[in-house]
Amino acid sequence: MAGDGIRRSRAWFGAAGRSGMIYRSWMRNQGFGAEMFDGRPVIGIASTWSELAPCNAHLNRVAEAVKRGVWQAGGFPLEFPVMATGETLIRPTAMFYRNLLAMQAEELIRANPLDGVVLLSGCDKTTPGLLMGAASVDLPAVMVTGGPMLNGKFRGQDVGSGTHVWKFEEDLKAGRMTQEEVFEAEGCMARSNGHCMTMGTASTMACMAEALGMQLPGSATWPAVDMRRFEVAQEAGRRIVAMVEEDLRPSAIMTRAAFENAIRANAAIGGSTNAIIHLLAIAGRLGVELSLDDFDELARPVPTVVDLMPSGRFLMEDFCYAGGLPVVLRELAEAGLLDGDALTVTGRSMGANVASAQCWNREVIRPLSEPLQPAGSGTAVLRGNLAPGGAVVKQSAASPALLRHTGRAVVFDTPEAYHEVCDDPGLDVAADDVIVIRGAGPRGYPGMPEVANVPIPTKLLRAGVTDMVRICDGRMSGTGYGTVVLHVAPESAVGGPLALVRTGDTVTLDVPARTLTLNVDDDELRRRGEAWKPPEPAEGTGYGWLYTQHVLQADRGADFDFLVGSRGAAVPRESH
Ligand code: FES
Ligand code: MG
Repeated sequence: MAGDGIRRSRAWFGAAGRSGMIYRSWMRNQGFGAEMFDGRPVIGIASTWSELAPCNAHLNRVAEAVKRGVWQAGGFPLEFPVMATGETLIRPTAMFYRNLLAMQAEELIRANPLDGVVLLSGCDKTTPGLLMGAASVDLPAVMVTGGPMLNGKFRGQDVGSGTHVWKFEEDLKAGRMTQEEVFEAEGCMARSNGHCMTMGTASTMACMAEALGMQLPGSATWPAVDMRRFEVAQEAGRRIVAMVEEDLRPSAIMTRAAFENAIRANAAIGGSTNAIIHLLAIAGRLGVELSLDDFDELARPVPTVVDLMPSGRFLMEDFCYAGGLPVVLRELAEAGLLDGDALTVTGRSMGANVASAQCWNREVIRPLSEPLQPAGSGTAVLRGNLAPGGAVVKQSAASPALLRHTGRAVVFDTPEAYHEVCDDPGLDVAADDVIVIRGAGPRGYPGMPEVANVPIPTKLLRAGVTDMVRICDGRMSGTGYGTVVLHVAPESAVGGPLALVRTGDTVTLDVPARTLTLNVDDDELRRRGEAWKPPEPAEGTGYGWLYTQHVLQADRGADFDFLVGSRGAAVPRESH
């Protein structure tokens, strides 16, 4: 409807007779006057606010700022809830619900009298989930992420949410911290509204939304409690009204060029491995051809320049004050590593958006010529007989000495099976072994949880071992670190070779050669494969059944097979 001059919302509020009366009359119970139905753009504000998703608990206030902007520009803002998924509380894992969130967003945007939508997200899965849903409707959309928490501060030191959880756990186990000190530290880590302030998945996806051109320049980094966050939200409210006039849709913004920009930006910021899965899923909604190998090839010439935890030293507040993502995007464009012509929600090109971005702190945002990590040391895509569908390893979070390593496999069928024994002083494991954790893929767990960076066995930790090669069909938190091979596809639950590894086999990881090899010959693997029996389906009914029946493997973004693609914004049939 939009685009031919007649707004979609007119099918509701402009309707004659009984139907029009019903559409308008009930809306007036909120105090909206008759003038609201005069044809002005109706803007949905899709909010993943929830007190159960603490990173999103302030989004109702962000929504108020968006509304001010919509009113200023002559639109009619209507806020509505979309399922919130918080990483910390929701079980079995927020990833299990990302596709449900995306489905809700898609259906609610299409089913209602909306001409455009502002997407409010925060915690990890809420950003990709909303982008996936909005992409499948393809009505004008702009994203506003909720912003990171202020830097954690504990005993005079910066403390990164997520990253320091792993550190404190290790310190407690190794006897370097007491339980009382850990209690005190946990209160100092999350000390304001906002999402994780490390370069974890939430910060990464906020940066990806900006690099894709889907949120206003600078939006990714303003802290959640900084008034500039609310200013930028207000600007997004004004902008979406204009985008409806311009009929500027996600499909015109999230093109192949935009995804290439996002992939390169992710390498430059040292972003989360989860971005790979989410970008693949979003691209799938738009029909943009994107493969796992694109992530390796496109990222190779890009050095990591942002010195943030978990790969580096600083946190999102520092990144913001140093100039934020626009600085990185401008410098990538100037080096020929970014397509400056890509269109963005501003209606201008990416290059024009960031042309005047300045860096205020060269320790936080390094020059491309003096990077934190050289080009080619970002997240690598591995293949081999252990991962025919691919696997990934975040080199910047790994130990250089382990990037080429052969070791004896010590295999666990579930993460729980490992946790049961990892404190056992008698566990048969050595520092140069390779810990294999399976049963953690999309279908097997189900939901592909962030369990891959299992702790080092306690007896080795006490002996001073700080890293080991770990291999898993699950994911790792964007705040995690270690030499951890992730997203092994196909996963063990569908009979991928990971299901056939036995304790005592040897595995060779060769990151420079981009290979992951199980040193067992093909005949033996075939014999093991013939004897392999698939695990009982985890769920026989309910959402879990839907999920396990339809989830795609990691190399396809773990979307549902039936949600791939766009279904458009056509106005559904009358409701009465
Ligand atoms: Fe929500 Fe980290 S737990 S962003
Ligand atoms: Mg996370």
